[in-house]
Amino acid sequence: MDLDKRMVSPKVISFNRTSEQWVNRVARGWDATLSRLHLGGRKGPYDDYAYEFEGGANDGLRSKHYDKSLRLLWKAEEHAPWSSFRDASSDEKALMSQALRSLTEEEKAQRKRIGSAEFRAFLNEQYTLEQKQAIVKILSAIGHGEAYAWMVSAEVLNHVQSTGARAAVTMQVFEEAKHFVVLRELMHAFEVEIPPLSGWEYLLLEQAYKARGVDQLFGMNVLIEGIALSLFGMMAEMPGLEVLHLFHLDESRHTALPVNYLKDFPLSDWQKRNPVARMNRIRLVLPAVGLIGYMEEALGEIGIDALDFGGSVIRKISYLSHRAGFLSEGDSRSLVEGLNKALNLYANTTRDGHVERDYTQAEATVGDRALAVEHEIFAA
Ligand SMILES: [Fe+2]
Ligand SMILES: [Fe+2]
Repeated sequence: MDLDKRMVSPKVISFNRTSEQWVNRVARGWDATLSRLHLGGRKGPYDDYAYEFEGGANDGLRSKHYDKSLRLLWKAEEHAPWSSFRDASSDEKALMSQALRSLTEEEKAQRKRIGSAEFRAFLNEQYTLEQKQAIVKILSAIGHGEAYAWMVSAEVLNHVQSTGARAAVTMQVFEEAKHFVVLRELMHAFEVEIPPLSGWEYLLLEQAYKARGVDQLFGMNVLIEGIALSLFGMMAEMPGLEVLHLFHLDESRHTALPVNYLKDFPLSDWQKRNPVARMNRIRLVLPAVGLIGYMEEALGEIGIDALDFGGSVIRKISYLSHRAGFLSEGDSRSLVEGLNKALNLYANTTRDGHVERDYTQAEATVGDRALAVEHEIFAA
């Protein structure tokens, strides 16, 4: 290419090169010393020589979470036509209108009903006021949880190592934002008061947010998302709540993230065995037990036994905790046995003629679609 090269004086070039090298050596050397002394140092965990974040490429994790999230990316305009979201591209809209043309008259009528302001009327036809209040009380627990999932995942993004793990967690941040705003619109459509956080939820969410380093992955992705996964799996087949299947699918990926991440960056023996860390993890779980009792009335209103739900959640959470390495097999077994005893004690005190049973064998998730999603995680 014919470019008009400008001459720069060799002295100037040499001066600029030398001064840059000097600044580079001093700045990096100073930060390296501070870092060795645990006094700070370079903040960005980024290796510019390797053009990777610290921890390496980790393409496996990127493909299991970032690529998969993009493949399964869903738009609220298509799946929640009653919402105010206009997030579909023109290509997606063209596909949607093609699909609409192939529907039967009855399917079109159904789609039209939920595609308009009549969604609210549809919910009123389906549910009594008490049922609507119960559903919103249950969903609000997850709704506020989505706000915390959004905040925690944005922080976790700065704790994980490797480029692949950052890409994976970035998708989680993005998905939690979508969950928060779409779920809030769904709850508003019920036109009943949305309760604030209960004391149990407050403790659970704040503790997870305040947890240190990878323990945030335990508090959020294993514990809280384990509860959210179970609630979505239990409610997605209810009329008007079909969009929860998509939340369920996203949460299943989020609960699997610590297992996949810690396979490549396992907890150290000290992180696993240290009694303070073990006690902290057990402490994180405890408010969930209070939450089960608190939700009994609302779950009962829609025909669900809170203790079956609680037992089902405990089994799933302890499985994920053990697989990721957060709890040893012994700790995980003791947790399941201890919490099953607590559920039986609660039933014995509050229910006439209670017969001792293993609540942790219960399955709260309903329907082939949600069960197939969970099968991928829990039968692996
Ligand atoms: Fe979520
Ligand atoms: Fe999530």
